Amino acid sequence: MSDLKELYKEVILDHNRNPRNCYIMDCATRTADGHNPLCGDTVKVYLRIEDGIIEEISFQGHGCAICTASTSLMTESVRGKTVEEAQGLFDEFHLMLTGVAEEQGIEMGKLMVFEGVREYPVRVKCATLAWHTLHAAMEEKKENVSTE
Ligand code: FES
Repeated sequence: MSDLKELYKEVILDHNRNPRNCYIMDCATRTADGHNPLCGDTVKVYLRIEDGIIEEISFQGHGCAICTASTSLMTESVRGKTVEEAQGLFDEFHLMLTGVAEEQGIEMGKLMVFEGVREYPVRVKCATLAWHTLHAAMEEKKENVSTE
């Protein structure tokens, strides 16, 4: 395994072991529930949005290591961003998992640790569950989000 892949794996394992922003937010202004029907895993995203800025984001859920790490890193990536910026990051994350971001030279920062997931289609759903759920919370969608 290359040094870079080893580093990416370590980051994912760290965020799985010690997920950031993992708590129930009592003062959330928006929430959404996501579900991966392939495995039954779930994630709930809490947002506190003020003046169009994600001032606070947290989550709770049960997921595999990729899902938990992806949710943790997602919360770190979008906190302090505008809703539009977070939406843009969501779009770029998708582009990364289809290989398009690399072709277009889009920089993904620490989210690059999930780049290798695109080789495993089932795992792509693990990595994107949090982002779909974030998207639903930002759009104020009421129905549960599914990766299917
Ligand atoms: Fe369920 Fe990854 S196996 S989200």
